[in-house]
Amino acid sequence: MMRTRIAQALELPEPQKDIKISGWVRTRRDAKGFSFIELNDGSCLNNIQVIVDENTPAFSSLDKVGTGASLEVVGELVLSPGKGQRYEVKAQTLKVFGEADPETFPLQKKRHSDEFLRTIAHLRPRTNKYGAAFRVRSEAAFAVHEFFRERGYFHVHTPILTGSDCEGAGEMFRVTTLPTNEIPQNKENPFENDFFGCEANLTVSGQLEAETLAMGLGQVYTFGPTFRAENSNTHRHAAEFWMIEPEAAFATLDDMMTLGEDITRTVLDRIMTRLPNEMELFDKFVEPGLLEHLKHIVQSDFVKLPYSEAIEILSKTKAKFEYPVSYGLDLQTEHERYLTEQHFKKPVIVYDYPKQIKAFYMRLNDDQQTVAAMDLLVPRIGELIGGSQREERLDILTKRIQDLGQDPENYWWYLDLRRFGSVPHAGFGLGFERLLMLITGINNIRDVIPFPRTPNNLEF
Ligand code: 4AD
Ligand code: MG
Repeated sequence: MMRTRIAQALELPEPQKDIKISGWVRTRRDAKGFSFIELNDGSCLNNIQVIVDENTPAFSSLDKVGTGASLEVVGELVLSPGKGQRYEVKAQTLKVFGEADPETFPLQKKRHSDEFLRTIAHLRPRTNKYGAAFRVRSEAAFAVHEFFRERGYFHVHTPILTGSDCEGAGEMFRVTTLPTNEIPQNKENPFENDFFGCEANLTVSGQLEAETLAMGLGQVYTFGPTFRAENSNTHRHAAEFWMIEPEAAFATLDDMMTLGEDITRTVLDRIMTRLPNEMELFDKFVEPGLLEHLKHIVQSDFVKLPYSEAIEILSKTKAKFEYPVSYGLDLQTEHERYLTEQHFKKPVIVYDYPKQIKAFYMRLNDDQQTVAAMDLLVPRIGELIGGSQREERLDILTKRIQDLGQDPENYWWYLDLRRFGSVPHAGFGLGFERLLMLITGINNIRDVIPFPRTPNNLEF
């Protein structure tokens, strides 16, 4: 007999004489002549109740069945007389795959703290909250691909191992096969004997490579892991996170603002429609008012605000900030949150930043002072998206690289895109985990990725 997953079983149009269900025991309750097992198989938030009658062969296996055990039940799917679930299973036979010692199994019936569950990241997918979070993660990834496919963007794969530093922030993880004591300290190229013959790093962004693909395919996006060695002891930074990076030829900053707004709204809307039970759980137990808040975002037009006006608003407010605000300084999380949560009460796209605080590849505006950059900010999280129109003029880009003390030679292939058939183009990067924090109301990036990579955290 084929196994039926609980999500499918609960949707069946009518009861079934024979059904086979497998899963992990959430709870077991004994009554006179019967045992009731709540079984979950991860396919959905719902458990299915299994009833074991003492007059069936299944009853003899019950001594091995405690919270956490895994088993297979064969029996009858019947309408449930109680409230809640439509169906339950009357067990005929029961096979235990693996027992779980109740003395040492860490997941008890009570609610555990997120901090505790992080220490057992290998077991937390079996809880309601984390099961829901990772189903949302899967569905959101699907919705992202769907979104771009509907708009004619091609999914491309850019390398994880790179020789370039896209953001120029020097926050890269180095990759080497050399034992530490064989890396010469004062040599021009200490990595000449290494695998690649030069320094190699884990990518901080697939943008530069995505630009080359956009110059051939027109509209592309990457969706992959990125790595940053910033000291990320905050609730919204991880050393390894997934980034979605669209890049489009013949596009402007304005196009990217619209695309960023659209993708945010579309993914939120689709998750609420497709995973209503999961979203209800988050609304109830994680962030009260979440669904209201997300519906508001889906229906809002995002604010578009030049950086200079953002600074003006922040300078005039009576709100107290830890970090000072003045023209030329980058916005801190507290400023981003003030704009989105208190001033406008919706997402805000800040654009036209001073060139000094932004990356070298951003297009210089006519004022010669600002660049065509944008950050899309959302309540509770702050920056969700960072993007820009790219500098497509060879001379200006070359000078910008030189001004930053870098050798344009190192960027020869990137500059080639400006030498041969250069076009206006633009793109952005959207932090997937931050999007998930927005959707689920979960307030720590460590809890929306199965195995978070943060300082001093590499246990699993
Ligand atoms: O603003 P960032 O640094 O932009 C870039 O890397 C561009 N090259 C992207 C592009 O234009 N193709 O990063 C983009 C987004 C941020 O807005 C944020 O959501 C996320 O990536 N992000 C992080 N998420 C989690 N942990 C970190 N340490 C992150 N750093 C950036
Ligand atoms: Mg940024």
